[in-house]
Amino acid sequence: MAQAAHSFPDAFLWGTATSGYQVEGNSRNADYWDWEQQPGAVAEGHRSGLACDWWGGRWAEDFDRAAADGHTALRLSVEWSRVEPTPAQWDEDALDHYRQMAAGLRARGLTPLVTLHHFASPRWLAERRGWEAGEVVALFERYARKVTAALGAHVNLWCTLNEPNVFTFRSWAEGVLPPRKKDIGLALRVAANVLRAHAAAYRAIHSLQPEAMVGLPIHLRPTLPAHAGFAPDVWAARAQFNFFSALFTDAIATGRLRRIVGPALAVPEAKGTQDYIALQYYTTDLVRFDLTNPGELFGRRAFPPGAEVDDAGFYASYPEGFFQALRWAHRYRLPIYVTENGIGGEGEAGDALRRRYLLTHVRQLWRAVNFNWDVRGYFHWSLVDNFEWERGWTHRFGLYALDRDTQARTARPSAQLYSAIARGRALTTNLVAQYAPQLVPAMFPG
Ligand code: GAL
Repeated sequence: MAQAAHSFPDAFLWGTATSGYQVEGNSRNADYWDWEQQPGAVAEGHRSGLACDWWGGRWAEDFDRAAADGHTALRLSVEWSRVEPTPAQWDEDALDHYRQMAAGLRARGLTPLVTLHHFASPRWLAERRGWEAGEVVALFERYARKVTAALGAHVNLWCTLNEPNVFTFRSWAEGVLPPRKKDIGLALRVAANVLRAHAAAYRAIHSLQPEAMVGLPIHLRPTLPAHAGFAPDVWAARAQFNFFSALFTDAIATGRLRRIVGPALAVPEAKGTQDYIALQYYTTDLVRFDLTNPGELFGRRAFPPGAEVDDAGFYASYPEGFFQALRWAHRYRLPIYVTENGIGGEGEAGDALRRRYLLTHVRQLWRAVNFNWDVRGYFHWSLVDNFEWERGWTHRFGLYALDRDTQARTARPSAQLYSAIARGRALTTNLVAQYAPQLVPAMFPG
């Protein structure tokens, strides 16, 4: 067998991504805590409970794992509801806890990437109409300033709000996540508040830390028309892309937030408010025009034919879409960090899919790096199985499996694979032969 290696630059960051609510456990002051208790909110009545018990201190052993596996970075998020459990009352112990975590990453040679808001918000905010009311902009800015001051000695790579497109769509249009509303008009107003809050936080971080790198992570979902020659499919695919995937990044590039009806909304303060593109890619949609689905802009989504789908039927493995996503990100001529990418799966079959997904997606990442696109790091979702929102514990993304009864972690073979990629800073024929031999002929022909 011919030997080949796809090598990455030495400074390229290899990490995993996590979020506070999903790993910390007992986030009792968050709006999501109340949502979890609602009947039917979470699959099989699951609860986040102790989650991965990071708040109880198990972050340290997980950071040890990441470092031992040769990772060089880790993404975590700060829970606003812990830092500010009641309005303007700051919990200094909570801030200190996060400070220790950030310092703990540095001590292990891991670069911290810190997100200020990953879906969950303080209960008190939700009780005041949360993201629907304009006051959230100033409140989020104040919170961003507090966290930057507390963690700035250890952190200079930041994300403001995780996936504003998923956050607004799933919570205000699809109605799955709190506050579970289905109102497109309201969703667009929330989107404007989220964009303004991001812009305010961007400036707050930079006022305290001029050298900070600040991004807004977008869940980028390329769309393919079901029939490339059929104009309505092409239109629906493009509309879904423009209003879901590209909405926020375009608004930052232009200072104008596109609206479905009427002229774009001027948000001049958002223009230029990101230092890098935070790209989150999982899957690609095949879209066909469907008059009966106005809620999704007359598009009906399916997975591309032939693509392998994960246990939960939630994501399909479509590596070409990752390359398209990277090409889209490259258009903005900013550095790129892939701040999430991964697939769910348990047991040997599930992890075999994860290994194939990892190998084929890292291959696309390498193509982008090889074109000299400024891609600086990759964060796999996720390090350890964690609480997967409305799918609860039924959908598991960890390189490490979590036993919820004992809190024991067990490395899946994909953890070893990812470790080998990170250590070698390369994807090699040998790794493919060892972890997914059936992929060798396609990935390394000849
Ligand atoms: C993302 C989200 C993460 C995680 C992941 C896996 O959209 O940011 O929190 O849930 O999906 O489904």
